[in-house]
Parts: sequence; structure tokens; C-alpha cells
Amino acid sequence: MTAFGSVFMPEMAISWFDGSDWSATEVVASDSIQVHPGAHVLHYSSTCFEGLKAFRHKDGSVKIFRMDKNIDRFAQSSQLLGLPELNKETTSQMIRDIVARFADEVPAPPGSMYIRPTHIGTEPAIGKAAVPSLTSCQYILLSPVGDYFAGGDKALRLLIEDQNMRCPPHMGMVKSGGNYAAALQPIMHARAEVQADQVLFCPNGDVQETGAANFLLIDGNELITKSLDESFLHGVTRDSILTIARDMGMDVQERELSVEELMERAAKPGCEAALSGTAAVLAPVGTLIYQGQELDVGNGGIGETTVKLRTALNAIQWGEAEDPYGWLT
Ligand code: COI
Repeated sequence: MTAFGSVFMPEMAISWFDGSDWSATEVVASDSIQVHPGAHVLHYSSTCFEGLKAFRHKDGSVKIFRMDKNIDRFAQSSQLLGLPELNKETTSQMIRDIVARFADEVPAPPGSMYIRPTHIGTEPAIGKAAVPSLTSCQYILLSPVGDYFAGGDKALRLLIEDQNMRCPPHMGMVKSGGNYAAALQPIMHARAEVQADQVLFCPNGDVQETGAANFLLIDGNELITKSLDESFLHGVTRDSILTIARDMGMDVQERELSVEELMERAAKPGCEAALSGTAAVLAPVGTLIYQGQELDVGNGGIGETTVKLRTALNAIQWGEAEDPYGWLT
């Protein structure tokens, strides 16, 4: 099995901003891109991206999940990084066209086509450390995928990190490469030291998110997750799961959650925890590791409600249930 996101469709959609206008979209080979070695992105990390998926339905049609919400976040990340303004309609057309071009390659469920829109600052200007790139490029890569977490449905082990942050507090909501790079050292350390799959960042005891997905605690009928602020990524899957959970009659609480409360609740037999994200979908968390102690979440396995929520989300994505929210394009 190939690693998630390591196989690409041979072509991608691309458009360049020259300082005044966006070029007409081209479809080009996806194995290289020409930027100057002094390009702003390579020095000052002016880059953001998105992650969304297209699904094959039984009738042969291909549907993109929550494209508009992802494009809104893409435009917001671009703006917060000082990148040129995106035309959302253009980005939307680029995504639709490239997915249509490779529609035959979209895997059947549980696989999907992962869509990776990317925006980079291209101006060759290494003196512009404190000035945005005037020029940029957006491109849409496609990668057929299966499960993000190797081990499939195995419940994950999370190390709780209550000192360091994933990224600067005002940048958490930006889907920027720099935030992911910043989280790598703690994740590598956690893998080596305690065989954790991910780090759950909880600066000053405030439960935020992991390096690659949002965190949800499910205690009976209660679903608890941090309320939206600048400090963490506003996950589209998080939003979808919360919507489905509310409609199932769950008590969804978007609020502060302390490590103390998390550990207290997690120790209860019926408790569950999960990570949500486009790649992760809704991945069960079985173990929390904190201050040298390991704690099973509930029974340490895959929780019933986690499976129920994930199944309901997949059913919409895969066209096996109605799409009452209008999430499919
Ligand atoms: C996604 O879930 O789409 C992400 O961007 C996370 C990444 C680590 C694959």
C-alpha cells in the first residue's frame, strides 16, 4: 500500500498572479513547477493549502465534499498570509475542471480523490522579509487515497503536550505549511519516546488540536470540543461532524476543555475521543499519555458513537444517504 498522498495524477490545474491579474488556468504536468530559488515562499513561508475530497458514487458520478467551505478557508488563509487575493470562482472552476478530467481515476469508497489546492508567493525578492509577495501561483493537485492513519481503524495513541504550542496563537486558524513544520519536532519526539501517533497540543492546559487534525471528546450524549478562535484550525470535517451530531440529538458543546477535565472524563468506561479532519475523517483515540502515565479512553478501543458519526458522514460523502445540508458538488 502506498503512503497517503504520495501518488499524484499526472496533471494539475495552475494559474499565476503577475501582480495585477490571474492568468488563464492551464493544465500542466504535475511533477514539477518552476519558481525562482529566491521566491518568497522558499524563504518566508508564504504558502497555504487546502485538503478536500472527491468521492465516487454508485451511479458512477463524482462528487466533491464541501468545496465552498474549503475555498472560503483557502481565501482566508491567503489573506492572513499577505498573499494575493484569490478569486473564489476561479479556484472553484479549477477544482471542478481538474476533478472532471480525472473522474475515471477517483477510487470507489472507502477510497477517494484527495484534492490539494495550494497557493505560494513566487516573487524573487529575498529582501522582502517583512513585505508580502506581489506575485503568486495557485495550483490544484490530485492524489487518490485510502486511510490517512496507517493501521486503518486502530485506536490512536496521543501524547498530551501542555507546555508548547503547535504554532503561534494567532496563526492556528491559517492552513499554512509553517504550522505543520512547527509541529514536527514534538511529533517526532512523541513517536520515538512513547510510540504515540500524534501530539495533542494543550498549551497551559487548554485542549486544542493535534498536528494534523481537530480533537473531539465524546462522553455519553455530550460531544465537547474547543470553540472556534484564532489558535487552531477551523476544520471542515469538525464542522460536518458537529452538524451531524446535533441532528442526531447529541449535546454538542463548543467550549474550553481543560486537560484536567479531559483526563477525568476519559477515565469513565463509556467515554470516547476522536480526531477529525479531511484526511483523518473521524479516527478513534484509544490512549492518552500525560506526564508519564497512560490512560485508556473509555475501553481503549473504537467507540460506538465515533463509528456512528463516521458512518453517517461517510454515507453522505459516498452518496448512500441523502445530503440534507447541500454539501456535495
Ligand atoms: C487534511 O486533513 O486534509 C490535512 O490537511 C492534514 C494533512 C496532515 C494531511
